[in-house]
Amino acid sequence: MSQRIGILTAGGDSPGLNAAIRGVGKAGQGVYGMQVLGFRDGFRGLVENRTVDLGGGVLSGILTIGGTILGTSRDKPHKMKIAGKSQDMTDVIVENYQTNHLDALVCLGGGGTQKNALVLKEKGLNVITMPKTIDNDVGLTDVTFGFDTALGIATDAIDRLHSTAHSHHRIIVVEVMGHRAGWLALGAGIAGGGDVILLPEMPYSLEAVASAISERVKSGKNFSIVAVAEGAMSVEDARMVRGLEEQIADAEAVDDRKARKQAKGELKAIEAGAGDHTLHLARQLEELTGLESRPTILGHLQRGGTPSAADRLLATRLGTVCADLIADKHFGVMVAARGDRAEPVPLEEVAGNKKLVPADHAWVESARKVGTCLGDDC
Ligand code: F6P
Repeated sequence: MSQRIGILTAGGDSPGLNAAIRGVGKAGQGVYGMQVLGFRDGFRGLVENRTVDLGGGVLSGILTIGGTILGTSRDKPHKMKIAGKSQDMTDVIVENYQTNHLDALVCLGGGGTQKNALVLKEKGLNVITMPKTIDNDVGLTDVTFGFDTALGIATDAIDRLHSTAHSHHRIIVVEVMGHRAGWLALGAGIAGGGDVILLPEMPYSLEAVASAISERVKSGKNFSIVAVAEGAMSVEDARMVRGLEEQIADAEAVDDRKARKQAKGELKAIEAGAGDHTLHLARQLEELTGLESRPTILGHLQRGGTPSAADRLLATRLGTVCADLIADKHFGVMVAARGDRAEPVPLEEVAGNKKLVPADHAWVESARKVGTCLGDDC
């Protein structure tokens, strides 16, 4: 009997999602005779049993379209807001999986989705995932789809900012997405020739950044591009965050709820203030260097539009291998990109395994060798 598979997309949307849905769906239908069902809006659609039949030509013409034809959400199966209250909906998901006679559930998403998929695996569902996010921060895969497209968009933006920064003799501080990982800022910063690149993984010294910009002025370059990852922090803020995280861990160890609440509140306040970080940094650099400074926040532009050729290829490759694995009844894994191959890796090893930029990464070394200031020892 033919297999029936469900597909959902969860977390932030990302270019290449439709290519991945098409890859697994078309290979599933065409090669293995599977029936393919989509769930709307991530895990919420699975809870509410909102389905869409992905047979009969629905998967044609979607390869080049950005976003996700299924819709997405950041809902978690075990902590879903229902009527204003956080509830564990995993039993409802199991019920809907059975009602739809599914043999497998394909979840396309980033780090959060890998954790959510593991929760469903532990509930006995045949789950299989693919790594999607512009942040490129999922462990055990060389790369995630969406990253290459966002990298191209952010690089193009930095290219464009160069001519205006140069003409006005200004500093332009450009904020790049990436959550707590610096891959996008580092990649686009290097490819776009940023003069300063600030990453969450390497807390920066404001004085070091200002002095690198002032040195450029002395050598006749009276403009600078500062590519800052949205999660970047000064040395002082990073120290404060680390201290509060330690306080939370200590309070949890001795079950001191009051101390935990207080430290959590302080941490939240710092995180809320981080929203203004780029504006603040631009102002500080203007004061310290005497150069006019302007902030630019690229935001969701980086997630929108047509996927790059590399992302279409990656998503198609992972998608078709995903169909092969389902046909082989190989579940509980993420289909990871490894060199020019796609390989299954156990969800237990992927969930919570965030891939950050290591201090000795080849991109970091190259950035330093071409004279880029990384905010530490410039
Ligand atoms: O994970 C992708 C991402 O774009 C991050 O880079 C960013 O921090 C986050 O999503 C933004 O989330 P939202 O679209 O929910 O505001």
